[in-house]
Amino acid sequence: MPLTALQASAYLHHLHLHSPDPERLAAFYARAMEMTAQRADGGFRLDGPSRRLLISEGPAKHLAHAAFAVRDAKGLAGLRAHAAGNGLAPRDLASPLLSDAFEVTDPDGNAIVFGLATEAPHAADRRLRGPLQHLTLATRDVGAIEAFYAGKLGFGVSDRVVREDGKVMTCFMRGNHEHHNLACFYQDRQGIDHHSYEAGEWGTLRDWCDNLAAQDIQLMWGPGRHGPGNNLFIFIEDPDGNWIEISAELEVVHDRPVKHWPHAPRTLNLWGNAIMRA
Ligand SMILES: [Fe+2]
Repeated sequence: MPLTALQASAYLHHLHLHSPDPERLAAFYARAMEMTAQRADGGFRLDGPSRRLLISEGPAKHLAHAAFAVRDAKGLAGLRAHAAGNGLAPRDLASPLLSDAFEVTDPDGNAIVFGLATEAPHAADRRLRGPLQHLTLATRDVGAIEAFYAGKLGFGVSDRVVREDGKVMTCFMRGNHEHHNLACFYQDRQGIDHHSYEAGEWGTLRDWCDNLAAQDIQLMWGPGRHGPGNNLFIFIEDPDGNWIEISAELEVVHDRPVKHWPHAPRTLNLWGNAIMRA
């Protein structure tokens, strides 16, 4: 029986980033994000407590793929049937981090993978809490991205940011109870806008800031609080120019109507300055 991403309980499991200098990028994530780097498949694999990245050679700020795990085999089969029924032609994929994985391609050419997690979460890990939590895409066509992820894969729409003339500038979507684990911002480019790790609590976000400061890594934005999702945030930038968010207190959504927000700086940051994408 076909199941939506929301019914299958999809969460962001790992990202595969391209980089012109994979070794430099892997060293940065190992240091900044408290991950263990090892060489794998001609690139690098990074692991931390519930945060995982693959890095291989390619253009800067380019996504090789984003991978979601779903709750169980029944959910994965149901989501695959849902995708196939909507004409997405899911393809088998051999993943080093997920079993029974399949891949689809979104309207911007981003490869999106779904599968089953093969490792239990690192429950007793003493490193700072911050599971990989969301991916935000840059796109020239927010409507097409929403139609693909919400319309064809069955992510739930939580919030939209709407310009005065009615144009949708941002769409926040969820595969589970987290306000968004996938979002897209209208920009005059395609690819990744940023990816985010969820620290959970304000005090943990403070500890992340102290850890980054001890390594002389400066915040590029924040601390602040987003309107949609109500999450506290800081942003840093990796050596390739990818934006990394560490967030806390992200809204938990069970069932509520979609909210619309004005396209204004206060929507992006209730506390202070905003980085408007368009
Ligand atoms: Fe974010």
